[in-house]
Amino acid sequence: MQARLANPNDRDYFIKDYLKRYGQDKELAEKHATVCTEIDRSIVLHKEDEIIGSVTWSIREGIEAGLVVIFQMSIAKKEHRGKGYGSQLVKKCLEDIENFYIAKNFHLRRIFITINETNLPGRNIYKKHGFYILTDLKDHRVVGEKEFVYAKDYF
Ligand SMILES: CC(C)(COP(=O)(O)OP(=O)(O)OC[C@H]1O[C@@H](n2cnc3c(N)ncnc32)[C@H](O)[C@@H]1OP(=O)(O)O)[C@@H](O)C(=O)NCCC(=O)NCCS
Repeated sequence: MQARLANPNDRDYFIKDYLKRYGQDKELAEKHATVCTEIDRSIVLHKEDEIIGSVTWSIREGIEAGLVVIFQMSIAKKEHRGKGYGSQLVKKCLEDIENFYIAKNFHLRRIFITINETNLPGRNIYKKHGFYILTDLKDHRVVGEKEFVYAKDYF
């Protein structure tokens, strides 16, 4: 398994993944693919030509604020889950974020992500990579459920 930065040739993967996860709006899926491959930065994990999964991060409030959000991550096929690929993606994503800030000569302060309380694999991965629960958001994505805001601080 190898990791690399996503590029516009990966559009189809992001469109299909979006449609599978968030419903059948083709226009929104196209926009999502543009954001993931051309505007923000995504890491894809692939085996030869097959993309296994992806993670995307974005600068928040301008680079000077040192604030980054990871806003999507998935291992597309169920048969590929639970094999450490998600963890590999997060490791590569953190390296990419850290190297990006070094190259731009700005200080990275905090990376954050929201994860549903029931998503134990996701929560496990981020905890393993140094994230902690900063706060929780009640009734946020689903009424009656909590989203945890996980953060990794560099200050
Ligand atoms: C979340 C997701 C990306 C995880 O990817 P993955 O490749 O399956 O995860 P990994 O195999 O790298 O690691 C999962 C970790 O959670 C643990 N885990 C898995 N299922 C678990 C469960 N039910 N309870 C507790 N821990 C669990 C694993 O043991 C592993 O921890 P370890 O490395 O200490 O052994 C994947 O399940 C996915 O694509 N889900 C759907 C999309 C999604 O939820 N995205 C949001 C992610 S924040």
